[in-house]
Amino acid sequence: GALVLGGATGALAADKKITLGFAQVGAESEWRTANTQSIKTSAAKAGITLKFSDAQQKQENQIKAIRSFIAQKVDVIAFSPVVESGWETVLKEAKAAKIPVILTDRAVSVKDDSLYVTFMGSDFVEEGRRAGHWLLDNYKAQGNVNIVELQGTVGSAPAIDRKKGFEEVIKAQPRFKVIRSQTGDFTRAKGKEVMEAFLKAEGKKINVLYAHNDDMAIGAIQAIEEAGMKPGKDITIISVDGVKGAFEAMIAGKLNVTVECNPLLGPQLMDAVRDVVAGKSLPKRIVTKESVYPQSVAAKEFPNRKY
Ligand code: AHR
Repeated sequence: GALVLGGATGALAADKKITLGFAQVGAESEWRTANTQSIKTSAAKAGITLKFSDAQQKQENQIKAIRSFIAQKVDVIAFSPVVESGWETVLKEAKAAKIPVILTDRAVSVKDDSLYVTFMGSDFVEEGRRAGHWLLDNYKAQGNVNIVELQGTVGSAPAIDRKKGFEEVIKAQPRFKVIRSQTGDFTRAKGKEVMEAFLKAEGKKINVLYAHNDDMAIGAIQAIEEAGMKPGKDITIISVDGVKGAFEAMIAGKLNVTVECNPLLGPQLMDAVRDVVAGKSLPKRIVTKESVYPQSVAAKEFPNRKY
């Protein structure tokens, strides 16, 4: 707790231990596990007390967690919003309690952007564009190209934006067509299940799979193999994140490319938390730097991967 003597708050403020309430989306993917790990270890390193809550991919749980952080009077609240909409009320409650809010990883759509201090994380539209560019640049066979898409969680920023960025790029070449698009909720199990349904409906017509994350692609790879086809060859597979599982799949020749989305936001978040508590102003948007890893570089890059 804070040590305040004779009103000398200024001199002693540096000794005050900061408490951060973090409301996480869930544990739906390898990416998310790495993100949670990064936040926990960075908080411990920075000497910040962390109250951590896992919402199991449900917005109502996240809202409850944020309300409980407000009731506990934490110094800062950070969260990765499971979906984009529906945050106005609880963010107003945090503002009324004078608790600053930092968004990590996923954005919210609110009219009043004073409801949060900053949003740090990837540019998901750009990730979608990178996936689209890779496809247009690397798909060599002639004729129509039938694409199936596994979307992320319905209403989430990465699902909305990765779809948008990809479509924006591929529409330049009308022979590339998304013939089926459905959510796999960012999980392996759902990715597999939905891919099975795609294969049942379209079979050998499918040329390309675009999965909004690696986990769904890995689930889909299983479905493709069980259907007697070769993932990465009969069906070209593009996914997003760049987790170790994706590199292993690329080394095995089963995944063609992964567009990086970096989950290691912990250190940057702790810096931001300290700055906010110290009254410093932060940029409204902090964008994560990322690249694209095709199969051809997978074996060389694998030892460097940190998540
Ligand atoms: O918000 C980031 C996304 O959430 C990751 O791409 C996905 O794997 C995770 O579940």
